[in-house]
Amino acid sequence: QAQRLSEEDLRPEVSSLEALNEALSANPPLADSGRIVFGEGPVSATIAFVGEQPGDEEDRMGRPFVGPAGHLLDGAMAEAGIDRSRVYLTNAVKQFKFIERGKRRIHQKPSMSEVTRYRWWLKRELDFVDPQMVVALGATAALALAGHRVTITKARGPAQFDGRPGFVTVHPSYLLRIPNKEARKIAYEAFVADLRAIAGSP
Ligand code: URA
Repeated sequence: QAQRLSEEDLRPEVSSLEALNEALSANPPLADSGRIVFGEGPVSATIAFVGEQPGDEEDRMGRPFVGPAGHLLDGAMAEAGIDRSRVYLTNAVKQFKFIERGKRRIHQKPSMSEVTRYRWWLKRELDFVDPQMVVALGATAALALAGHRVTITKARGPAQFDGRPGFVTVHPSYLLRIPNKEARKIAYEAFVADLRAIAGSP
């Protein structure tokens, strides 16, 4: 009798980030979502940023944080003195989940089970990069890293993820959605202050 392969059986024994990524693209965990968008940045990076999932633009380009949220993040990093090319950027879930509305693809938040299915891959990825600091951008990243739901307003600031120094802050998309210009500016400045604290930590 043929045995069905479980998800655990598909978890490869790999010895490099490239091999891990190859194994992931051979078996994308989410059938109805977009292509796999891998993490990006030097494997020697000392800071890793974890987002939620690729968006429409990221799915088209095959790179993380290249759409509107990425542009905001780029600007905030530059203000905080963080060089994007020297950090590692990735997502908790590596496929874009969306519903189609006419020509538009509307972002859908990943479910708890989708985040859970990607947790093993995220953990292995971060083991290879082995940064000194892991930053959770928003609640989905914090859930993936901590293994339980996290309220950003309560958890914002220094954290520990799997024994590694971490930091919880807001997701850049949240800042883009604040309708009031003045409130958005204040929230943006607080985000830059978090990035400065991250850049300044040992
Ligand atoms: N939002 C994310 O969380 N990740 C991306 O890569 C882009 C937008």
